[in-house]
Amino acid sequence: MERIDGRTVFITGGARGIGLGMAHAFAAAGANLALADIDGDALAAARADLGGRTQVETFRLDVRDRRAYALVADEAEALLGPVTILCNNAGVAGAAPVHKLTFDLWDWVMGINVDGVINGMQTFVPRMIGRGAGGHIVNTASGAGLAVTAAGALYTTSKFAVVGLSEAMRMELEPFRIGVSVLCPGPVRTDIIANTRAQEPPREGMTPMEREQENELAAAAAAFLARGTPPDDVGQMVLAAVKANDLYIHTDRIMVDLIESRTRALLEAMPPP
Ligand code: NAI
Repeated sequence: MERIDGRTVFITGGARGIGLGMAHAFAAAGANLALADIDGDALAAARADLGGRTQVETFRLDVRDRRAYALVADEAEALLGPVTILCNNAGVAGAAPVHKLTFDLWDWVMGINVDGVINGMQTFVPRMIGRGAGGHIVNTASGAGLAVTAAGALYTTSKFAVVGLSEAMRMELEPFRIGVSVLCPGPVRTDIIANTRAQEPPREGMTPMEREQENELAAAAAAFLARGTPPDDVGQMVLAAVKANDLYIHTDRIMVDLIESRTRALLEAMPPP
């Protein structure tokens, strides 16, 4: 997709972090923006930040809400024209030790990180196919969707799902000239840890010591991300990948060893030829 100017880009989780970085890149390339996010204040700040650079419309949306999603899609397309680039990016970094996981936490993280992407696909792909004009979709997974890291079982499950969905969708959508990319960032300098903690379901029954340990882990994770890639750089990488129709978008090389050892283990486990 060489031409970006004049297109309408729909970005979930577009009010902050990586989504806002994508918004900056697409705005600079001349696209109009529909930003959807669950956080109204952050949307207002993003709108103020981006306004003047291009046409920006913002939508308060919980990506888990399928009915609301369709209504927002209608409204966005009425205001900005057909969405031809969709960025399913909203996500949370919900985590707990495996023996402390709850169904509430599973449902919340999988609902946003996986169902949110499915809901975006289900809402926009039939529209794109129906118009016959092609398009491009970027799904935000993670390096943690390519090999097991310290991110924990819940987040890892959600991000492996997004990688599989993206690879399969890319094959299926190719005949319709709809490209699919999957963004697999390493650490990116965002406030996802704090934003996740502000929204996640309450953790019942934690002892003061467990709570202190959780706080220490969260602080360490936030400090790790603070040394990561700036979100605007990630936005530029996404823009370049959309133009080139690349499948995988890596933001750094942090996953090299883990991907290599996982791939080797998979191949070595096969029966001899
Ligand atoms: P962020 O917290 O800065 O931005 C995420 C945005 O999604 C926030 O504005 C938040 O309000 C929104 N959001 C959360 N739940 C929502 C919902 N139910 N409906 C609509 N919007 C919702 O986080 P960041 O880092 O920009 O994360 C974006 C994506 O990148 C996520 O999918 C995350 O898993 C992924 N990622 C981030 C990495 C990092 O180091 N920051 C590394 C790998 C992947």
